[in-house]
Amino acid sequence: MTPARSLAQIVHLLVGFSAAVWAGDVQNYLSKFEGSDQQWYPTSFTRDIVPVPGDSHNDYWRKVPLYDAISVGCISVEADVWHFDGNDELYVGHDLSSLTKNRTLNSLYINPLLEILHRQNPETEFAHKTYNGVFDTDPTQTLYLYIDIKTSGVPTYNSILTHLTPLRPYLTHYNASTNLTHNGPLTMVLTGNTPFSEVSLPPTSSSDYARHAFYDAPLLSLSDPDSPYNTTNSLMSTAQFSSIVGRVSAGEMSEAQKEKLRRVVKIAHDRGIGVRLWDTPSWPVRWRNKVWRGLVECGVDLLNVDDLRAAAEVRW
Ligand SMILES: *[C@@H]1O[C@H](CO)[C@@H](O)[C@H](O)[C@H]1NC(C)=O
Ligand SMILES: *[C@@H]1O[C@H](CO)[C@@H](O)[C@H](O)[C@H]1NC(C)=O
Ligand SMILES: *[C@@H]1O[C@H](CO)[C@@H](O)[C@H](O)[C@H]1NC(C)=O
Ligand SMILES: *[C@@H]1O[C@H](CO)[C@@H](O)[C@H](O)[C@H]1NC(C)=O
Repeated sequence: MTPARSLAQIVHLLVGFSAAVWAGDVQNYLSKFEGSDQQWYPTSFTRDIVPVPGDSHNDYWRKVPLYDAISVGCISVEADVWHFDGNDELYVGHDLSSLTKNRTLNSLYINPLLEILHRQNPETEFAHKTYNGVFDTDPTQTLYLYIDIKTSGVPTYNSILTHLTPLRPYLTHYNASTNLTHNGPLTMVLTGNTPFSEVSLPPTSSSDYARHAFYDAPLLSLSDPDSPYNTTNSLMSTAQFSSIVGRVSAGEMSEAQKEKLRRVVKIAHDRGIGVRLWDTPSWPVRWRNKVWRGLVECGVDLLNVDDLRAAAEVRW
């Protein structure tokens, strides 16, 4: 689990990033490197990008979804995934009508991630079996890939595990043989119809004792001593902002609200589990930014951000 990021790191992003990338448009930025001899990734792409605790929600709506999110320093992306009987592909889209044949988990996420990670971890006479993450500025920062299962839990989950096979060397995993959870450049977090009973099955020798996918725990359940979530099966948890904080006026959380939030965050962190909040107030921008800052100060690890521009342009 990465500790909450300091505000200073976030401010650094905004200065460095807006100058480097968002001045134009990510698409333009990328096109500068297309067709040039220069390998645009990783040496040029993420150099000025410092990770921010944003979760790019509805990520696939964007043209270059993964690259866009990474380029603004988002440390988390999310995809809604659909599985159909008799079809090996996994389709990505918010609802049935948004699915197309070429928007698949492989084409939008797995293949681009493999490409990025292969480039970040070249086999040379100096470097062998490195496990750098996608951010040059912080190669130890994991990228969270949230998968929201939209279709029947067990078959979709099993299909996801099969699709993830090529990424395995890079995935955060729990090893039941050593009883240790190893941090990797990528961390899979499963939500939606994900069957916890399957995710929490003890990994056996057939999987080399390793579990490469983790469950998105319900944050508010973690205070229950009998709660089944720990780092063997879950590394992140989620709750709706208002379910913990309630209503805020003028973007300013009261001391009592902050105190409650800190308490909830501590319970999760004591279990080694991170915290993501969704549905945070988004308007007006000045108040939204105040709330975001308050949340980060209280130790929240990920904030859902629908609009990448907002994530990139926020002034703390
Ligand atoms: C998917 O295919 C459609 C039409 O065949 C095309 O217009 C679109 O650009 C493709 N999208 C991607 C992400 O490849
Ligand atoms: C695994 O490690 C945890 C602490 O990290 C410990 O509480 C637990 O007893 C260990 N389980 C086994 C089977 O060794
Ligand atoms: C888990 O640990 C065991 C025992 O050390 C080892 O043999 C196995 O390769 C490990 N699994 C993975 C995926 O690293
Ligand atoms: C983690 O939780 C599972 C139940 O979900 C339990 O079987 C296991 O003993 C727990 N492990 C640790 C290390 O607490």
